[in-house]
Amino acid sequence: MIENIDSLFKQLTHGVYVIGVSNNERQNAFTAAWVMQVSHAPPLLAISINPAHYSYQLLKSSNICTVNILADHQFHLAEHFGQSNPNKMSNHQWQQDQTGAPILSSSLAYFDCKVINYTEAGDHVIAVCRVVSAAQLCKGKPLLYTQTGDLDGSSTLYD
Ligand SMILES: Cc1cc2nc3c(=O)[nH]c(=O)nc-3n(C[C@H](O)[C@H](O)[C@H](O)COP(=O)(O)O)c2cc1C
Repeated sequence: MIENIDSLFKQLTHGVYVIGVSNNERQNAFTAAWVMQVSHAPPLLAISINPAHYSYQLLKSSNICTVNILADHQFHLAEHFGQSNPNKMSNHQWQQDQTGAPILSSSLAYFDCKVINYTEAGDHVIAVCRVVSAAQLCKGKPLLYTQTGDLDGSSTLYD
């Protein structure tokens, strides 16, 4: 028996990120908190993604993505990209680096990545990503997952 697992998990320290994905024709982006560095050399990040997301189809078809760090004043962006909406890329400024996946120009910093491996993990898939380029875009402090409350609705998702 595990009581209050949602509030316990929320105390694991995570940032909040916008993951940019694309294939040749379509681009999308979604909010993610389950992102971590997993290697120094080569530089690797792991992203945990729900395979039911539209973004997962684009990721699997191209194996490229960006990880964009949100600042502490960008809760509204975490909310915006945390919803499924066919028009959510509009009215935001995007740029590209080596892979061509969308980079959110207003983020603190970005990592441009190629996926090298997928591993099933319960109701998510872990994408291990090699960082091929990265840069700081703005100064500021990162937004923390705990500051987003139940924005992701996760409190209802545990058995
Ligand atoms: C704060 C926050 C954190 C989230 N973290 C993740 C995550 O780590 N992995 C994931 O697959 N979805 C995560 N989500 C959910 C997706 O952002 C959400 O389901 C989104 O609608 C998926 O976009 P898509 O349907 O356009 O692909 C998170 C949402 C929020 C608001």
